[in-house]
Amino acid sequence: MKVGILGTGDVGKAIAKGLLALGHEVMIGARSATSEKAAAVAKELGAGASTGSFADAARFGEAVVLATLGSVNDQVIAATGAANLAGKLVLDTTNPLDFSKGFPPSLIVPAEGSGGQQIQALAPEAKVVKVFNTVGNALMFRPELPGGAPSMFLCGNDEGAKAAAAKLVTDFGWEPVDVGTLAAAHWLEAMCMVWVGVAARTGRWDRAFKLVGR
Ligand SMILES: NC(=O)c1ccc[n+]([C@@H]2O[C@H](COP(=O)([O-])OP(=O)(O)OC[C@H]3O[C@@H](n4cnc5c(N)ncnc54)[C@H](OP(=O)(O)O)[C@@H]3O)[C@@H](O)[C@H]2O)c1
Repeated sequence: MKVGILGTGDVGKAIAKGLLALGHEVMIGARSATSEKAAAVAKELGAGASTGSFADAARFGEAVVLATLGSVNDQVIAATGAANLAGKLVLDTTNPLDFSKGFPPSLIVPAEGSGGQQIQALAPEAKVVKVFNTVGNALMFRPELPGGAPSMFLCGNDEGAKAAAAKLVTDFGWEPVDVGTLAAAHWLEAMCMVWVGVAARTGRWDRAFKLVGR
């Protein structure tokens, strides 16, 4: 499958690496089609990775990964073009964090909304699935932790898109856990703060959530 990766940061790179290992093709998208950062990422990734603008990467992808700064969704979708996401699975890994007062950041979501819902509103025909936002990039692909596959919480409004995301999550070495419609992104984005808070207190960034039960 061809996957457009919007984002040249650690998350875009980690997910691209995983996709390439699974035999997919990726295009790394940045604000500029001639981004040096994107070129460096693609060079590191090797064969199967190309670069372009956010719009180029979205057009390239049968599915699209959104791995951009979570406080600028409006700018990212404007640059990407909502039409280039129409009908496609959009894996939204973003967290709307505010780092302006330092670390740990605060979460900037409306009381009953989320970044995921904002993205869905900006690209109404996209099939947005919130996923990969509750763990650090270092563990995203094949985490191989003691205790078996950790839980990857995901949510979205389109059942088919969620099933496709769940398959990918399984291929990445996680147990997918469907939390419901995209309204649940509010809670998944808050969950990121739990993960960050624990990591900040303990210095342990190598942990992931696991849902247990009978
Ligand atoms: N880091 C983690 O381990 C982790 C884990 C889970 C979720 N997340 C979330 O995943 C997302 C990506 O995180 P990251 O650490 O990989 O990268 P990041 O530094 O949060 O974002 C990098 C990307 O955002 C784009 N960007 C920055 N400012 C922009 C603007 N004003 N308008 C449009 N695009 C802009 C950059 O474009 P250019 O390439 O053009 O510079 C770049 O591609 C974030 O929302 C983060 O909260 C991160």
